[in-house]
Amino acid sequence: MTEVEIVKKRVASLREQINYHNHRYHVLDSPEISDAEYDALLLELKKLEESHPDLISPDSPTQRVGAEPLSAFGTVVHPRPLLSLANAFCDEDIDAWYKRISGLVPGQAIDFVCELKIDGLAVALTYDNRSLVTGATRGNGYQGENITQNLRTIKSIPLSVPAGAPAKFEVRGEAYLPKKGLARLNEERSAEGLPLFANPRNAAAGSVRQLDPRITARRPLDIFIYALGWAEGMQMPSTHRETMQYLKSLGFKINPHMAHCQDLEEVKACYHGWAGRREELPYDIDGVVIKVNSIALQEELGFVGHDPRWAIAYKFPAVQGTTRLLDIGINVGRTGSLNPYAILEPVNIGGVTIERAALHNEDDIHRKDIRIGDWVLVQRAGEVIPEIVGPVVSRRTGVEKVFLMPGTCPVCHAEVIRAEGEAMHRCANTACPAQALESIIHFASKGAMDIEGVGEKLCRSLFEKGLIKDSGDLYSLTRDSLLELDRMGERSAANVLASLEKSKQRSLPNLIFALGIPNIGEETASILAQRYNSIDALSNAGLEELLGIPSIGPKVSDGILAFLRQPQNTDTIEKLRKAGVNMQSDEAVRRDLPFSGVDFVITGKLAASGRQELEAKIRALGGKPGSDVTKKTNYLIVGTDPGAKLARAQSLGIKVLDENEFLEMLKDAEAMLK
Ligand code: IVH
Repeated sequence: MTEVEIVKKRVASLREQINYHNHRYHVLDSPEISDAEYDALLLELKKLEESHPDLISPDSPTQRVGAEPLSAFGTVVHPRPLLSLANAFCDEDIDAWYKRISGLVPGQAIDFVCELKIDGLAVALTYDNRSLVTGATRGNGYQGENITQNLRTIKSIPLSVPAGAPAKFEVRGEAYLPKKGLARLNEERSAEGLPLFANPRNAAAGSVRQLDPRITARRPLDIFIYALGWAEGMQMPSTHRETMQYLKSLGFKINPHMAHCQDLEEVKACYHGWAGRREELPYDIDGVVIKVNSIALQEELGFVGHDPRWAIAYKFPAVQGTTRLLDIGINVGRTGSLNPYAILEPVNIGGVTIERAALHNEDDIHRKDIRIGDWVLVQRAGEVIPEIVGPVVSRRTGVEKVFLMPGTCPVCHAEVIRAEGEAMHRCANTACPAQALESIIHFASKGAMDIEGVGEKLCRSLFEKGLIKDSGDLYSLTRDSLLELDRMGERSAANVLASLEKSKQRSLPNLIFALGIPNIGEETASILAQRYNSIDALSNAGLEELLGIPSIGPKVSDGILAFLRQPQNTDTIEKLRKAGVNMQSDEAVRRDLPFSGVDFVITGKLAASGRQELEAKIRALGGKPGSDVTKKTNYLIVGTDPGAKLARAQSLGIKVLDENEFLEMLKDAEAMLK
């Protein structure tokens, strides 16, 4: 075999392994290897493709997020229209539906399949010659938008299907955001002052219809396939259930809660069962879809208008309830915004007790004419924060009070201002303790520095005890200072310190997001990190330059400049730098530093320096300290009494340095930086 043939073979084998493990993880939810092992396979493939670009193919697992942002979506004509479903809202509607269809196929036994009605967005995926070629929205049923590059980023969508699949076919399904993903997305949007997604459908549609696929790739979208649209050159299975089994065997993600029901009683029991258990699911459903199982019967029943007669959506009732609005509380956010929220008499809505609801701002409260003491209609849409639809005016007694924003901050009592054109009131005091505490909580949270074990409660206790004043102080915490807290034991303290240490290696986008610059969410943070390779480069950016970045407008740029000029923020950044928090993008680390791409292992006892200290220096110079000698190790540094690692390094032909040689090398490398 020539070298190229060997590489080709390895690339094919890696792709097969990656696709297999991707399917186990994202479709079957039952991984066989660790994330690190998976990442290693993907990295190997990426490197081979980098050195042999001619081997890259669009269905390679490295090519999920490949394309450049679009300026607009193209149109896709659906060869067979994507239909909608008629709705049913009660058992009587189902009885009437059954009566209609059984009258059309008299004497024939009908069995049904009940599926969850996933609350997301309908999409169609077309495969040609085993590869995914088009992904489209439903649109008006006859033509939709071409969102192929966004759907490719959903890991549970196979980019290729096994040999033996039909030459050309289309599957249909629902793209959705799981509850947790949706809640997180809304939290971020709220922090960025963006309008929240009112329901899971809007969130899925908003995510899938991004012109930049890198943004879609960061949204935790998933999919369930629920139909085979059409297929060329294949004998169609005779039932819907078999069709779903077949699609599963091709690698598609099928919802596991599909029930085969022999009669209407079983169908109704299935619906009522899910109506009471829907909260247990990790994604939102808005009903149960009932389908006639036999394809022959489906064809016989046909359509009426846009709806098939052979299927119906049995919808859940809206999750609404009424209760009293006891008071309106104010939360001071990390940017100083005064966020009003409703304090409600606890009420059970769809199995969940609601005590708080979002009230976006003063204007919103007045527009809906919500008064303290009112009976109000409260609505829950999936995992979205409950909201108040409006007051029940007929139940007013005359004692209800109109709400007014306070003139002073409820936390620090400084003046409250509302800038022209802004909906939010803000506390004018940049040193407001509420802002400082919220900023620290945000800094440590998931998506930001993700410091495990450092949640809202711990931040609050540390802050109230005066142990931390800003996020930079987190890294000065010691075992002793942590033990001052109530209910903090040795073990928890050690865990907190370990998570803090780990968080120092978070990526630049994480850090930019964590700093809490107004209007900078995870997405903008990533865009900034791509443009600027370090916090220093970002701090030196000018207004014109920032405005030149697509998707960054004057409000965001002004926010960045003002934030990075404020002494208290530059102080925090300096504290983070001193603590050794990573302030550069991986690319900058890889490209610009003397040890970039170089792997070191240290073994044996060192005379002049501590091992951790040396490892920190290696990292600071762009290198990677590791503990195992592998083929990838570039240097083994040996102290006295080296163990088996020395022999292994020698057998692999790895360069061995003694401590002094290494210190010399360090000196040279450090000199290069000056
Ligand atoms: S079947 C002709 N099955 O509900 C049958 N639809 O109101 C086409 N949906 O546009 C649809 N889960 O977006 C079907 N298990 C499921 C579904 C489902 C969610 C959505 C789909 C469709 C809408 C119909």
